[in-house]
Amino acid sequence: MLPEIKVKPPGPKARAIIERDDKLASPSLIKEYPLVIDRGQGVWIYDVDDNRYLDFMAGIATCSTGHAHPEVVKSIQKASEKFLHICATDFYYSGYTSLLEKLCSYVPKMGPKRAFLTNSGTEAVEGALKLARYHTRRNNIIAFKGAFHGRTMGSLSLNASKVTQRAFFGPMLSGVLHVPYPYPYRCPYKQARNVCETECICGKALEKDWFQNYVDPKEVAAIVIEPILGEGGYIMPPTNFLKDLRRICDEHGIVLIFDEIQSGVGRTGQMFVADLVDVAPDILLTAKGIASGMPIGAFVAREKFMTWPKGSHGSTYGGNPVCCEAAVTTLNLVEKLLPNVRETGAFMKQGIVDMQKKFPVIGDIRGTGFMLGVELINPKTGEPDAKLADELTQRAFPKGLLLLGCGKSSIRLTPPLIMQREEVSTGLKIMEECLKELT
Ligand SMILES: Cc1ncc(COP(=O)(O)O)c(C=O)c1O
Repeated sequence: MLPEIKVKPPGPKARAIIERDDKLASPSLIKEYPLVIDRGQGVWIYDVDDNRYLDFMAGIATCSTGHAHPEVVKSIQKASEKFLHICATDFYYSGYTSLLEKLCSYVPKMGPKRAFLTNSGTEAVEGALKLARYHTRRNNIIAFKGAFHGRTMGSLSLNASKVTQRAFFGPMLSGVLHVPYPYPYRCPYKQARNVCETECICGKALEKDWFQNYVDPKEVAAIVIEPILGEGGYIMPPTNFLKDLRRICDEHGIVLIFDEIQSGVGRTGQMFVADLVDVAPDILLTAKGIASGMPIGAFVAREKFMTWPKGSHGSTYGGNPVCCEAAVTTLNLVEKLLPNVRETGAFMKQGIVDMQKKFPVIGDIRGTGFMLGVELINPKTGEPDAKLADELTQRAFPKGLLLLGCGKSSIRLTPPLIMQREEVSTGLKIMEECLKELT
């Protein structure tokens, strides 16, 4: 199958909806391009004018099993016929328990665990921050430059990727300190790339600089990190840095929190990056891909860290019964998709590497599986080319390819985990055509 554009988007039906929506929706919404979805099937999306698009972004890495996967849809239908809500904070149901069992079976290196189910990613971040503060009786949190953790006050305070997300919303949560995130292509400490990749100094700088000059580690409750940076540019830190963080947290009694809301649930070819890099956090955050798009998230903590008492934390909708069933079905499917993510993801990455030989505007290619970042640059200066990244996304859309940017000038390639080689080739051909037209 190929993309099919019957009428240049936005077509008449799409324009009519956009016109109505634009009058009423909050102007804070971004709306990357004028896609008005009617339905989705697998890796394909149809708009209201019946144009067919290939999906290279999966609703921001969320539609893990593809659009409207029949098994996920069936589990939603079955669950919704039984009951829609009862509140897991106060009562029991088997879907909730089954999802806890599933989540607590991942990342075995964390040892015995307990989990808390939420409605969203940001609610998982908020809960984890509360738990870390409660458990350690400490206040300060270390986060990273380039980070994105959500839009409620706690998670927002951890963000440092785009100033518009923070501007005029202060005061932020007190005690948050942002330190450099390793970025081998543009090392914050100006190390050569090969040095950064093998002997990253960001962890050591945290000890030698930040802990000496800014904050006593004995006052730090948690280090919160995306083990692969999402919104900030799909940047993969060197493994030795994550190992350094583990050691530092162990030495000072700090809770290590991995925000795997974007990077988890099979996206890298492993269920979680924690497995990929063999570094176990104390709290693991998940959402997005966990239920193929149904609104649910979770934080999973080492059992010995879940020290808070009855009534100290809860949620009305967290772990909604319909979402729980969608999540269990999704996770069963994703477990079987991991080999495809590794193999087809490597094929996709090689395709971009081949493209880079023809287009020097492709400065960096990073990531693994179906979590790939492509950084666009001005080849004369080496500087990020944000305009080109935006133009590429905008130009691909009317050709039937859905892309999404991240960071200053990167494109994230995050298709549904079911994507096959043929579909990857189709999408890459369109990207190449766009780059030919633009450069
Ligand atoms: C790494 C990360 N953390 C947290 C969030 C917030 O998740 P949500 O939008 O479900 O609140 C996101 C969303 O993009 C994310 O990518």
